[in-house]
Amino acid sequence: MLRTNNCGELRLDDKGRSVTLSGWVQKSRDLGGMTFIDLRDRYGITQLVFNMESDAALCGEARKLGREWVIRAKGTVAERSNKNPKMPTGDIEILVESFEVLNVSKLPPFTIENETDGGDELRMRYRYLDLRRPVLRDHMILRHRMAFETRNYLDSQGFLEIETPYMIKSTPEGARDFVVPSRMNPGEFYALPQSPQTFKQILMVAGYDRYFQIVRCFRDEDLRADRQPEFTQIDCEMSFVTQDDILETFEGLARHLFRSVLHLDQHAFPRMSWEDAMRRYGSDKPDLRFGMEFVEITDLVKGKAFRLFDDAELVAGITVPGCAEYSRKQLDELTEFVRKPQIGAGGLVYIKHGADGSLKSSIDKFFGQEDLSRLAETMQAKAGDLMLILSGPAVKTRKALCELRLEMGNRLGLRDNNCFKPMWVVDFPLLEWDEETGRYYAMHHPFTAPKPEDIPLLDVNPALVKANAYDLVINGVEIGGGSIRIHEKDLQNKMLSILGFSEEEAVKQFGFLMNAFEYGAPPHGGIAFGFDRWCALFGGQESIRDFIAFPKNNAGRDMMIDAPSTISREQLDELHLSVNKAAEKSDQTEASQA
Ligand code: AMO
Repeated sequence: MLRTNNCGELRLDDKGRSVTLSGWVQKSRDLGGMTFIDLRDRYGITQLVFNMESDAALCGEARKLGREWVIRAKGTVAERSNKNPKMPTGDIEILVESFEVLNVSKLPPFTIENETDGGDELRMRYRYLDLRRPVLRDHMILRHRMAFETRNYLDSQGFLEIETPYMIKSTPEGARDFVVPSRMNPGEFYALPQSPQTFKQILMVAGYDRYFQIVRCFRDEDLRADRQPEFTQIDCEMSFVTQDDILETFEGLARHLFRSVLHLDQHAFPRMSWEDAMRRYGSDKPDLRFGMEFVEITDLVKGKAFRLFDDAELVAGITVPGCAEYSRKQLDELTEFVRKPQIGAGGLVYIKHGADGSLKSSIDKFFGQEDLSRLAETMQAKAGDLMLILSGPAVKTRKALCELRLEMGNRLGLRDNNCFKPMWVVDFPLLEWDEETGRYYAMHHPFTAPKPEDIPLLDVNPALVKANAYDLVINGVEIGGGSIRIHEKDLQNKMLSILGFSEEEAVKQFGFLMNAFEYGAPPHGGIAFGFDRWCALFGGQESIRDFIAFPKNNAGRDMMIDAPSTISREQLDELHLSVNKAAEKSDQTEASQA
């Protein structure tokens, strides 16, 4: 071993011990007769001391060490005169007797500290340096712990971890596929799985009634802070279960993770129907860390000659505690906020319930004191509160009010990352209608079962059919989603036909699943959790990027290895992608003609 101890473990109890440490030079300081070096490894930082008086030559050598050089130092543990209570090893230092340079390092392009001066792209290009920073190290440790405890829990519940293939045929999870050309089958492609959905269902047919997998999934979709093109799911499926069994089992997993990773005990998770979530929070992933539930006041405000309200399908508002003193400027800011194209509200109406009991509003012309006081009562506004009201088409208004509620939550500091409010959203609609393409899409995926009592509605009004589908939402983040599946061939066929698949297409894409369903498919259901999202949430962050060792940037590029990249003509030919040659030629011709 090139060390007796790591850089995070020595304490005052070790005083007098002779030790050897190896690590990276974090920084060095020359103070007259002494040189101090912070030596860092995965476990922490330990201070090395070189004394000019006791060994001038050694001290001279130490002064030549640069940042991020790799060294091995031998010395004695001593008590520090100037202790650093912020560091676990801050009570001691190593009086170095000898050291050797194991490797030199170029000057790193950014500081390897939690507060670094490196921008995102630079840090991604030098990810190995970025990963040396303690914050990222802690994220990797958290991720490991989460995976480890997930396996522990699911194993204890009788689940088997079974791997499914990465080179498959397209599964319709709603995003685009990444595809891999087949050399041996000219003109044919594998798709990388968007999820192992069909495979886990087939495992149920095969009798593996409790399956899970911590598995990479691939989706070619627009990237955001909480989305990566390759990400990890905790993917699970069970046979012979009801929706309640699934929710209980995985609430158990969630509780276990809260307890073992964050040392937090959670109460039973509330369950809210999708309809309620939309009505009360304007979102299928409500953030329950704070109140400000929507109050619908459509009927109360009609007929006062205020056109905006009279013409509106929905008038609804939130009561913001303690903000009655908001200034003109602050209210203008909020109006601007809701008018942003991505929010899309026409305007904002406010009513201030002053501390003195007065009621002032932006609609005083149309609404008298009595009207305002009725509104305040309905919206449960107390003296000192501010009521914010939006109006318009129902769906759009709810969406905008949801954004406004979250914005007010942020402004009032009510979205504390150390507070966790998990919940289940249940009873999702089975289908959603898309105006643009004029067809239904599966809200979850095409294998989700309608609620048995709603099956007759499939022929009459599919839009009204509810599904046995559910999401785990924590702090307004969709951590996971799943459903009870269709396990009968005929119902699956019907579902595919509602989704616009011809019989031929259905057979081509899902024939293997339909065939399997003819050999004794048990009733089954499952769920998949976004593992990166769950890690980020537990780590108190919104972006999943720094919880993945080697993530892609917003353009889907790996900046370190510079992928994607072009491949050689020979490789293209071998993969029968010569059609690219043709496309390239036609591009060139077009360019030369232009
Ligand atoms: P779904 O598509 O809802 O369901 O995905 C499950 C969970 O995966 C996470 N997730 C993502 N995380 C990071 N980057 C992405 N691009 C990304 N896309 C999704 C989310 C989401 O809740 N097969 C079904 C599950 C099932 O029915 O059992 C499925 O994949 O946290």
